Amino acid sequence: MKVLGILGSPRVGGNSDILLDQALAGAKDSGAEVEKIVLAHKKISGCLDCDKCDETGVCAVKDDMLEIHKKLLEADSIIHSVPVYFWSMTAQMKAYLDRWCAFFDADWRWHRSYYPKMKGKKIGLITVCGDLDVSTADPIVHSFKTTSQFTGLKWIGAVQASASKKGEVNSNEAAKKEAYDLGRKTAV
Ligand SMILES: Cc1cc2nc3c(=O)[nH]c(=O)nc-3n(C[C@H](O)[C@H](O)[C@H](O)COP(=O)(O)O)c2cc1C
Repeated sequence: MKVLGILGSPRVGGNSDILLDQALAGAKDSGAEVEKIVLAHKKISGCLDCDKCDETGVCAVKDDMLEIHKKLLEADSIIHSVPVYFWSMTAQMKAYLDRWCAFFDADWRWHRSYYPKMKGKKIGLITVCGDLDVSTADPIVHSFKTTSQFTGLKWIGAVQASASKKGEVNSNEAAKKEAYDLGRKTAV
């Protein structure tokens, strides 16, 4: 079983990174092979809506997302972790998510090149916001959860934590446990 962790924060070693590591530890303890991708270390442009992928199933934008597409296909579960930036997800995570477009055909069904490889994959989310009210991240949860439901992925849940300074979430044992448990859910 392969679990892919996708970090959407440019602050490596920050709060969403710490919680993602917890989730990956939970997955590893459940027997999974884990890998983490730091989007900020990759070159990922936005989707061009050029429709070329409708024909070929391959994205026309030649950057690091092509390698990530392959890793997404190989993974059994994908856990994303991202901080709230201006009541939304970071630019890195949004560019990555928009590039999922290549997986779909013109009618937004899984492209024949990817079905059934994508269908049924487990997908989870971790958010961190500076606001004490963690519902600040609800729009990000809505985006990932709706994408999962719309495409037939298996939504395994979201962990929403509050933390501001780099590493502050380390003292939030409840959030770390929730993230660890999210990782364990990849095995169920
Ligand atoms: C550009 C920017 C925008 C932010 N916007 C928000 C926001 O709208 N709401 C909020 O609660 N926190 C906001 N924050 C705070 C971060 O979500 C918070 O510091 C978080 O812990 C960062 O996580 P990280 O350490 O994983 O990068 C913002 C931070 C930055 C740098």
